[in-house]
Amino acid sequence: TFVVTDNCIRCKYTDCVEVCPVDCFYEGENMLVIHPDECIDCGVCEPECPADAIIPDTAEGASSWLEINRKFSAIWPVITEKTDPLPDAEEWNGRPDKQRHLSE
Ligand code: SF4
Ligand code: F3S
Repeated sequence: TFVVTDNCIRCKYTDCVEVCPVDCFYEGENMLVIHPDECIDCGVCEPECPADAIIPDTAEGASSWLEINRKFSAIWPVITEKTDPLPDAEEWNGRPDKQRHLSE
């Protein structure tokens, strides 16, 4: 599976949603996550994210994000269409330590 990681937080560009063939993105207030059991590992979303927030779960540092993606994809609603990014997306893209800003 692929997972969404911290740089999505406060950006939420949603380009990923547009390309996912199985609609397995779920939407929180300021981040999206991927449902690990629904993702078919096609990889097409990875290069689409302007924040480079999507990585394979086999990548270094991915395991804690896998758990976060699993947890919130069970709770948050599915998102199937691209929306506008969050208003301050450009300003937040690439900032360090964004995990503490995650809105549950
Ligand atoms: Fe969807 Fe493919 Fe990305 Fe998985 S890897 S979330 S199936 S686009
Ligand atoms: Fe987030 Fe990137 Fe998608 S910022 S909403 S993972 S395009």
